[in-house]
Amino acid sequence: MSYKLGDVILSREAISRRVKEIAEQIAKDNGKDKSLVVVGILTGAAFFLTDLVREMPEDMDIRVDFMSVASYGDSTTSSGIVRIFHDLKSSIEGKNVVVVEDIVDTGLTLSHLLDLLKNRNPASLKVCVLLDKKERRKTEVKVDYCGFSIPDEFVVGYGLDCAGMWRHLKDIKGVIEE
Ligand code: IMP
Repeated sequence: MSYKLGDVILSREAISRRVKEIAEQIAKDNGKDKSLVVVGILTGAAFFLTDLVREMPEDMDIRVDFMSVASYGDSTTSSGIVRIFHDLKSSIEGKNVVVVEDIVDTGLTLSHLLDLLKNRNPASLKVCVLLDKKERRKTEVKVDYCGFSIPDEFVVGYGLDCAGMWRHLKDIKGVIEE
């Protein structure tokens, strides 16, 4: 099977406007005097995260860290265990943390990851996703900040890939199977 790029689902302008709004909301909720650790889940969220933090006020104490994880199991089952390929560089104990993810689909990866991070005793732990496919959810995940809700359609671009391809697109597009 081969894949072809489809129509633009979310334009770069729409993404950029929404990223700015979310950054302002996160900064407002966190308060100026407080520090914030922004944790990106590699690889997809790196694109969103770097735009997001650059829209936050200069006088905020923002630290950026990354994790790389994968759920054990195949596409239909999950063992409930998240395997860490790359862990955070710094402790999050007592810190305000926002986890940034590109897309929440079944919710399994994020919910396992949140359990793992909660055990490290952050002062607060919030979730920010660019895209949410609500109808695909298998487990409840509390999403505090969401860019866009999208229908159950596979999308690429702005960090999202299809077999490793198309992460670099500025717009988010659909994929056509041929
Ligand atoms: P889940 O919420 O545990 O099912 O997994 C979310 C992960 O599935 C994301 O981090 C993406 O890597 C991947 N994913 C789900 N839907 C899409 C999509 O439409 N395009 C690209 N990746 C997707």
